[in-house]
Amino acid sequence: MEQKITARCLDCNQETAYQFDQPACPNCGSLWREAVYDYSSISLNAISDWQERPFDLWRYRELLPVTSDIAEVYLGEGGTPLIKANNLGTMIGCRNIFIKDERQGPTASFKDRQAAVTIAALKEAGINEMVVASTGNVAIAYSAYAARAGVKLWAFLTSLVPAEKMREVAIYGTQVIKVTGSYDQTKKIASEFAAQKNILNDLGARSIPCVEAMKTIAFEIAEQLANAMGPKPSFPLCAPDWYIQAVSGGMGPLGVLKGFMELKKMNLIDRIPKIAVIQAEGCAPMVQAWQQNLETAQPVRNPKTLIETLATGDPGRSYTILRQRMLENSGGAFVSSSDEETFRAIHLLAKMEGLSVEPAAAVAISGLIRMVRNGQILPEDVVVVNITGHTFPIESAILGENWSHDIDLAHPALQESQEEGLLAALSKVGSDRYPRILIVDDIPEARQLLRRILQSQGNFILFEASNGRECVELAINEKPNLILLDLMMPEMDGFAVMDALQKNQDTCEIPIVVVTAKELTTQEKHRLHGRIHKLLQKGDFLSDDIQNEVRSLLD
Ligand SMILES: Cc1ncc(COP(=O)(O)O)c(C=O)c1O
Repeated sequence: MEQKITARCLDCNQETAYQFDQPACPNCGSLWREAVYDYSSISLNAISDWQERPFDLWRYRELLPVTSDIAEVYLGEGGTPLIKANNLGTMIGCRNIFIKDERQGPTASFKDRQAAVTIAALKEAGINEMVVASTGNVAIAYSAYAARAGVKLWAFLTSLVPAEKMREVAIYGTQVIKVTGSYDQTKKIASEFAAQKNILNDLGARSIPCVEAMKTIAFEIAEQLANAMGPKPSFPLCAPDWYIQAVSGGMGPLGVLKGFMELKKMNLIDRIPKIAVIQAEGCAPMVQAWQQNLETAQPVRNPKTLIETLATGDPGRSYTILRQRMLENSGGAFVSSSDEETFRAIHLLAKMEGLSVEPAAAVAISGLIRMVRNGQILPEDVVVVNITGHTFPIESAILGENWSHDIDLAHPALQESQEEGLLAALSKVGSDRYPRILIVDDIPEARQLLRRILQSQGNFILFEASNGRECVELAINEKPNLILLDLMMPEMDGFAVMDALQKNQDTCEIPIVVVTAKELTTQEKHRLHGRIHKLLQKGDFLSDDIQNEVRSLLD
């Protein structure tokens, strides 16, 4: 198909022919331009064309700024799964949470999309050398694609980028320049180096291929949600209520929002989702500007976050454009989250959903939790969160120092008496020393949820009882350190259980936390008074409440 693409200048509004190697507007010289396509003709066959093609980024090729064959760069970019996070959703009281799993791209981050389209456009323009500044993931993605396409790449990385990431960049053959300074300073040096040597510099959010690549995330989500939830009447594809993304410079949401805007323009979805932009608290210029209703973000000169990937202190015009587009469309929010919340979110997502993500991606998950807690995201909202997965040594921030059990088979004790020594060593890694908790609820899903919440927060030996009688038996036989007790159960309810436990000297001292969905009457509250340690209302607690209670009782 003959592709008609023009570039519209965001400053003078002039629409001119698009050429990758001439990024500036020929009319006013601005570098802020955006790609425009012939949407009405593309929309006629979009769905049938897309459905005939493999599920990857190039499925949407008539809406991308590359026309030539992409075999030279292709590494399987795009087409990442959309995974429903049922456990996380149940825990935070929001049933439709979906994870766009960008870990499953060629270099494990959503920056693969940007690298694939940029390197393809570069090759198409006959360019073979490029400069990029990065906090890690961008350089890794560009390095892989540059290596495959035979492009020489210079990557300027801040010295705070973890050694594991830097090493990966170098393995692809990229020239690594380590800059001891902030990310904003690193970008400046990279741009000066490129100008001096007359090498093309990656323009980030001002680059048409970068933004265009990111919008494929929106296209995929709309197709995947239509499959998962069913399309809306009269519209073949389906948009979520919220799209959530952690940001540094803001290119991700700029591209994704453009993608949803294009789908809406083509009448393929019924509405544009609200965008939630999440920043690390120690470097959140966009959040600060949003809260003060400012059109321009004030730069953060000294970012104070351990999440180096997100340390753009000066988002420049990206924020202004993003804010304006969000306000003109469905709206959204700029939210921050602390590093501590983020580290907890990594652990939570890994243990609840089996998804191990990097801190920069977990920022989006802790943002999600904040937004559910403060009522910005409603229980029935359909939410998509973008995640990425360069896990590198952060386990001590999450798990503490002693997270592994070590057995040294070369130790003299094991050498002398192999079998005895081995058994002694293994007994140390057994679970006998963990706190014992009894979960009592007649509804299996409620027991499962509490089990998962506890498992996600630490090491416990868990018992489950599905009725009051079983609870009393287990309490006598297993001597738990704590009982999480439901009140409303058939035959023997929570009150009767407490009577029985208190009559028995073996069980009368066991602390009880009541977890109930029941709105208690004053009389019932009176009956509980002095007999339980704490009352938690189901649907009203998050993992932290349970965790805090358990810790305070067991420490
Ligand atoms: C995992 C991850 N999330 C978010 C970002 C922020 O990207 P941007 O703000 O450019 O969309 C990055 C940037 O490298 C990243 O690697």
